[in-house]
This record gives sequence, structure tokens and C-alpha cells, in this order.
Amino acid sequence: MSKERDRQPVRIALLGCGTVGGGVLRLLNENRSYLELRVGAPLEVAHVLVRDASKERVRECRAEWVTTDPEVVLGDDRVDVVVEVMGGEQPARRYVERAIRAGKGVVSANKLLIARHGAELIEQAIEHRVDLAFEASVGGGIPVIRTLRESLASDSVSSVHAILNGTCNYILTRMRDTGLAFDAALAEAQRLGYAEADPSLDVDGHDAAQKLVVVSMLAFDAHIDQEALLVEGIRAIDQTDFRFADRFGFTVKHLGIGHDRGDRLELRVHPALVRKASVLAHVDDVLNGVFVQGRALGPCLLVGRGAGDMPTAVSVVADIVDVARSRLEGEPGLSTRSIQLSRRELLPIEDIETRYYLRFDVADHPGVIGTIASVLGNEGISIEQMVQEGRAVDADEGVPVCLITHHTREGAVRRALQAVSTQRFLKAPPRLIRIEDV
Ligand code: NAP
Ligand code: HSE
Repeated sequence: MSKERDRQPVRIALLGCGTVGGGVLRLLNENRSYLELRVGAPLEVAHVLVRDASKERVRECRAEWVTTDPEVVLGDDRVDVVVEVMGGEQPARRYVERAIRAGKGVVSANKLLIARHGAELIEQAIEHRVDLAFEASVGGGIPVIRTLRESLASDSVSSVHAILNGTCNYILTRMRDTGLAFDAALAEAQRLGYAEADPSLDVDGHDAAQKLVVVSMLAFDAHIDQEALLVEGIRAIDQTDFRFADRFGFTVKHLGIGHDRGDRLELRVHPALVRKASVLAHVDDVLNGVFVQGRALGPCLLVGRGAGDMPTAVSVVADIVDVARSRLEGEPGLSTRSIQLSRRELLPIEDIETRYYLRFDVADHPGVIGTIASVLGNEGISIEQMVQEGRAVDADEGVPVCLITHHTREGAVRRALQAVSTQRFLKAPPRLIRIEDV
């Protein structure tokens, strides 16, 4: 689009009109005149592609826009910006690639698509000199991508610790504050509409892993395969862990963690103990929080609503504004061209060094704690604190023994847990939760 077309409407096509698409239409409508001033031209919706045309939509979705025929949308040369808010891998990927090849700007909220194919899509967008913007793919309404790409363009990021999944954060907050069991807290999160249709994407850590891969593209210029990350969810966390965490001065959060270790990158997603005084300890309920350490900047915390129709629409529409303006200015694709990705090698999990919370549910016999301490000692693992809770009333009952280690390599911890596993006094497999000094 050239400058001569200034004031001509920028024509938008939405692929999808569910939670996020509905929010986008509402925001485009509510802020219409304000957005026109910002962009320098009106934003005009041309098409809304859906699966089922008979479904009820938000009242801002006009019937004449709605179609189930992708050809009507993708074959329309007059569309300037395609907004992919349908989710999933296919046909979203095909549609986005076609839009890029046709020279249209693309906005996507699809974390799965960007995590799996972002590198290739960015390459295609650069080749065709168009924008591919994906702010809403991480942290809903929080400006994570823009902050990393623009505000920190002058700095380099040394680490990121982030609460990236609202459902996990809600569940852990409810378990800690009300003593709810995991299943009951998950049922609440589902009732409130926070969880994905398949909640294992949330509670087993995959949603957070996709978001961490996208964050790493901006924070570390890294092209990473999600399958290479260590990913653990929160299903195993119970009230015993919360009691011990509290006693040791911590709370439990589900984190996506990235460290730039020079030649290698450390990336992992798992539950973690964070000090009660940590900034992330107070990011509760369904909120997301992204804590970035810049080498020159130092610490920076972004907190906000990581999901929901209107927060996510804020990010999508901000991207539409940027893409529309860059087209009107005759410089499409400028911000996408600033993303330069390369393959980065990951640090093997055995080589990471941190502190650990270890839990052994054991028979209450003399010598048990001595055996555990000696196995850990054999691996060079130093214990900071160790506590046994309660007394077993019969021989079959287990009691939890929990301890906090000093900094140690994960390989040593795994070998020690393997060695303790062979002991007959163990009532359940030993467990670890990593401790993050954030
Ligand atoms: P949603 O409510 O399930 O809406 C998906 C929409 O896409 C629906 O309108 C659906 O049509 C349409 N659609 C799906 N497959 C289609 C196909 N093959 N052809 C045509 N239309 C199709 O999903 P959502 O929650 O809005 O999420 C959309 C995207 O935003 C996802 O990538 C998600 O990860 C991302 N996101 C969501 C949130 C959130 O809070 N929900 C936050 C951040 C990012 P029908 O309505 O006819 O079924
Ligand atoms: N299910 C996701 C979450 C929605 O709980 O964070 C936002 O991506």
C-alpha cells in the first residue's frame, strides 16, 4: 500500500471469531475513531472466516462478513492485513503462508504455530517484505514481544523467569491459599474458562513450553525445537509440598526459565520453589509475569492478564495498528526484519546447576535419614536443611522427609535419587522440585 492511498481504509480479514476474534471485533468497534487517528486511516473489517456460520457471534460481528470459504478471504486482493485467531497448526499455517506470499501483513495469536513454525514464517515474511506480528501469542495482553524486540533492542538479555500459563498459576494459588486439592483447583480453572479445551496442555506444561520457545526467539534470537526442552507440569504437586515449601520460606510457581550461558542456552519449564519475597511469588491467580534480566538494564518485571478475550484483543489490535501503519508508511516488514534467528545449542539438563527441594516418602525407621544423607554425600550433594514431618502410626504408613540442597548439578541429584529408589524403606518414588533464585 503506498502513501497515495492514505486515508483509504486498511482492510482486515479475521481467520476465526471465537474468544479472541470476538474480542478483536469488539475492540475495533469500541476504539474505532481513536484507532483511525493512530493509524492515519480507518480500519475496516472485510471478512471473518469461521467453521460454522450458524453459530452466534459477538454483536459486533456483522453477518455479511462471515464466511466458511477460505477462498473468499485469502483470494481477496483488496485485503491488507490477515489476522489469524483460529489456533492450531493446520490449516492456520497454510493460510498464513498464503497471506504472506500474497504480500499481506499478518497478525497471529497462535503460540503453537509460532513456536513450531515461527522461524520459517519469519523468513518467508522477510523474503516477501511483509510484517508477521505475534504479540498475543505470549502473555495475552502483556506487551512481552514488543518489549523484548523494541525496548530491549539496545541491550542483551541474560535470563528470563516467567509465569506463562494462567491456568497453572491459578491452580497453584488456590492450592496454596485455600488448601484445595489439584483436581478441585483444576475444575475451578476450567469452570472459569482459563484452561485450554484439553487442560493437559496447561497442567503438563506444553502451553508454557510453546510460549517459552516464542520468548526465546526475541530474548535470545534463538530458533529452538520445543521437543528439546525439559518440560514438567504441576500434577504431582500436593499439599505436603506446599507445607514444606512454606516451612523453608518458599512458594511454588510454574515457570518457564531461560538463561544465556554464552555458547549454550539453558531452557526449561517446570514447577519451581521461589522465595516468598521474590517478585514472582506475588504474581498470583490467573496473572502471568515475565521477569527479564538485561545485562545493562538489570531486572524488569512485566505482569498482567495472560488470557481472556479483551486482554488478548489488546495485543492483537496493537499489532494490527503497527502492521497497518507500516504499510501506509510504505515500509512494511521493517519490525519483522529486525528478528534474526539462529540455531542455539541447549545445555543438557544433567549439566544445569541449581538448588533442589527433595522429597522422600519413607517408612519411619531408624537409620533412614542417615542412609539418604549418605547417598547424597556420595554424589557430593551438600544439604542445607532437612526435616521429617510427623510420626508413622503403623509400619505401612510413610512419612515425608524433605530437604533443601546447596547448589549442585542435576546429574548428581538424578543419580542420588536413582540410588535411593532401590531402598526398601521408600513408600513412593522420590521427587525433586528445582529452587530458583529469582
Ligand atoms: P476459539 O474460541 O476456539 O476460536 C477459534 C475460532 O477459529 C472459531 O471462531 C472457529 O470457528 C475458528 N476456526 C477454527 N478452525 C477453523 C477452520 N479450520 N476454519 C475456519 N475457522 C476455524 O479460540 P480462541 O480462544 O479465540 O484462540 C484463538 C487463538 O488465540 C489460538 O491460537 C490461541 O492459542 C490464541 N490465544 C488465545 C487466548 C485466550 O485467552 N483464549 C490468549 C492468547 C492467545 P467456529 O467459531 O465456527 O468454531
Ligand atoms: N490456557 C492458557 C493459560 C490461555 O491458561 O494461560 C492463554 O494462552
